Parts: sequence; structure tokens; C-alpha cells
Amino acid sequence: MQTMQSRVVPLEEGKDPGVTSRTNQTKALPIRLLQLFVLFLLFCITFSVISIFTIRHFGINGVMTTATSSFQPCYEEPSGLDRWIKPPSNLQHTMTDKELLWRASLMPRIKKYPFERVPKIAFMFLTRGPLPLAPLWERFLKGHEGHYSIYIHSLPSFQPHFHSSSVFYGRHIPSQVSEWGRMSMCDAERRLLANALLDISNERFIGAFDDPGPFGRGRYNNNMAPEVNITQWRKGSQWFEVNRKLAISIVEDTTFYPKFEKFCRPACYVDEHYFPTMVTIQAGNSLANRSITWVDWSRGGPHPATFGRADITEEFFKRMLEGHRCTYNDRNSSICFLFGRKFAPSAMEPLLHLAPKFLGF
Ligand SMILES: *[C@@H]1O[C@H](CO)[C@@H](O)[C@H](O)[C@H]1NC(C)=O
Ligand SMILES: *[C@@H]1O[C@H](CO)[C@@H](O)[C@H](O)[C@H]1NC(C)=O
Ligand SMILES: *[C@@H]1O[C@H](CO)[C@@H](O)[C@H](O)[C@H]1NC(C)=O
Repeated sequence: MQTMQSRVVPLEEGKDPGVTSRTNQTKALPIRLLQLFVLFLLFCITFSVISIFTIRHFGINGVMTTATSSFQPCYEEPSGLDRWIKPPSNLQHTMTDKELLWRASLMPRIKKYPFERVPKIAFMFLTRGPLPLAPLWERFLKGHEGHYSIYIHSLPSFQPHFHSSSVFYGRHIPSQVSEWGRMSMCDAERRLLANALLDISNERFIGAFDDPGPFGRGRYNNNMAPEVNITQWRKGSQWFEVNRKLAISIVEDTTFYPKFEKFCRPACYVDEHYFPTMVTIQAGNSLANRSITWVDWSRGGPHPATFGRADITEEFFKRMLEGHRCTYNDRNSSICFLFGRKFAPSAMEPLLHLAPKFLGF
């Protein structure tokens, strides 16, 4: 913006005195000469307009042939590396899913980036519409600009109303209706991953999804062999964290997708099995086989506990944060979870109140 202004302003200043002095000159000249001058001026303007038009529509080469190679167009297509590494400024692209997945599966073969790449975390939200805990996310992300990106998949009919200062503003991706337990849910997750992959800086992909609903076992179907053996059958929640490599293997999959689409239908809830099973087969060695999302199943039943206003106490935070053991990069760690679920909208106020003390933000 700054350079644009400083380029434009001198031009304007230079132009005005020139025109004035010429006008002063012409006042003293016969009327015929003035007419000629006006004609000449008109010709110049028309020529400029034609030049601009030609550049816009036929590129700079078209203009070169009319001998104005020194002309600097005011708008240029990026021709450097930027063109390939700049994230899309508008998430509302017009690609179909097929086109999007293809585009997202493009991957550089040379592993060393020839520019300074700051890896970012992509937070992906799969929601019907509203994000009741948005203020908590806002606070969590504050001050970390440039290290995260946000993607939201909601009902296509949902009209978001985020203020332009919000981290969620303009972060909705082109969405479609998706149903629990159906392939359309996996499609939505793949859509999120694929859109996030379009930004080459995104390195880790964190899924933050609503509760999936009923859980069950014995959902394997023999028709899935030989691509999927029952020994490879996995179950997981939609809350996951993957790196860029795994994200690409998820969006590029055409081997397992048709099997799951055809043979994992309710009561086989495909959104609980497709990704965990597929990545186990493709990249089992790189999996942690655990969740980084804390959740309370202790009450039993098909749904984990939901916490509301009255539950959010200091004791609750201690229960959630203390007494865990896990390994992280082959080291023992007591920090085993980065996220927690499930929280009702009513939990927001006490969460905001206690977050500085227990969560550090
Ligand atoms: C599944 O894997 C097991 C053990 O690797 C093997 O014995 C069995 O034949 C496989 N089943 C199918 C249907 O391929
Ligand atoms: C996770 O399970 C896969 C097999 O399903 C195994 O290859 C991998 O080593 C396991 N990861 C860890 C960290 O134990
Ligand atoms: C991690 O903890 C386990 C059990 O407490 C212990 O046996 C192991 O040696 C520890 N590993 C490291 C790397 O400290």
C-alpha cells in the first residue's frame, strides 16, 4: 500500500504543472493550434487507453509489437516464486471437490524450501454454523499471527457474522451438507484438509470437530479386502492432528475411498474408521496411536461427558491437566493433551475467567 501511494503521488504532482504550463502557452496561440493540440491530447489519451486494454487482455507481448516496450502496466501478474507460495487471499474459490483434491495433492519433490518458510498450524473447524467458544479461541490465538491459519466448514446456508478483526473472519471454505456417519462427513474433512494444503506454509493440521455420535464395533465388511484386512481395521475420533505428509495422503487417496464409501454404511460409521484405518495401512509407523484431545468417557454410554458452567472449577482444571503420563518424541511427558472436549456454550464465561491461571492465556 505504502509503495503504491508513493508511486502514485509524484506522478500526480508531475502531471499537473506540465498541463498548466502547456495551457498557459496555448492561451497565446491561435485558436487553430489549440484545436490541433486538443486533438493531439485526445489521440494520446485514446492510445493510452488502447495500450492498457491490450496489456490487460493480451499480455505485455502484444504491446511490445506496437513499440511501447517501456510502458509500465499498473497491474501485473506475479511472475516470481510468490505466485507459487502465496496463500490464496480469498478462500471462496470456485473449484469442485475433484479439482480441489487434485490441486491440493500437488507436492514439491525437492524437500528443502528455497525461501524462508515459517511452518504454521492449520486449525480446522467442522461445524453446523456457530462457534460458541470463539472468544476463547480468539484469546488463545492472540499474538501468534503468522503461525496459524483457520478453516471453517459449516452448513452452506450458514451466514457467518464475524467482525473483520476476528481470527475467524473470511475463513469459511466452500462447504456442502454433511451427515454424521456418512461419507459426506469424510468429504467435509477432506475438503478442510485440502483447502488448508493450498497454503504451503501449513505444516500441521489440527482437526477440531463436533461430537460424532454413536459408536460401535464389528463394523468391518469382508468386501473391503484385499485393500483393507480386518487386522488393519481401526477406529478413531474425528479429532486428529496430522502433518503435511499425512494430510496429502488423505486428500490424494483413491484406493480406500471407494471401498469405504460402498461397504462402510450405518451401522458402520465411516467417519470413525476411514482415516484411522487408511493412515494405519499407509503410514502406520508414523502414527502415535493416541489422541491429543482430553475427553471424559468415565460415565459410560455412547457419548462422552459435556461440561457446562457449573463444572468449570479449579478442581476440574486440575483433573484435566494433572496425573497424565505419555511419551513425546520418545521422552516421558506429563503434558499429554493439547485440547479438551466437550464444552457447552455455558462453559465459556468460567473458561475465560480461569484460562489465564490454568492454561496460560
Ligand atoms: C489378513 O491378514 C492376516 C495376517 O496378516 C492374513 O493371515 C489373512 O490372510 C489376511 N486376510 C485377507 C482376507 O487378506
Ligand atoms: C502405532 O501402531 C502402528 C501399527 O498399527 C505401529 O506401526 C506404530 O509403531 C505405532 N506407533 C507407536 C508410537 O507405537
Ligand atoms: C519413562 O517412564 C517409564 C515408567 O515410569 C520408565 O520406565 C522409563 O525409563 C522412562 N523413560 C525415559 C526416557 O525417561
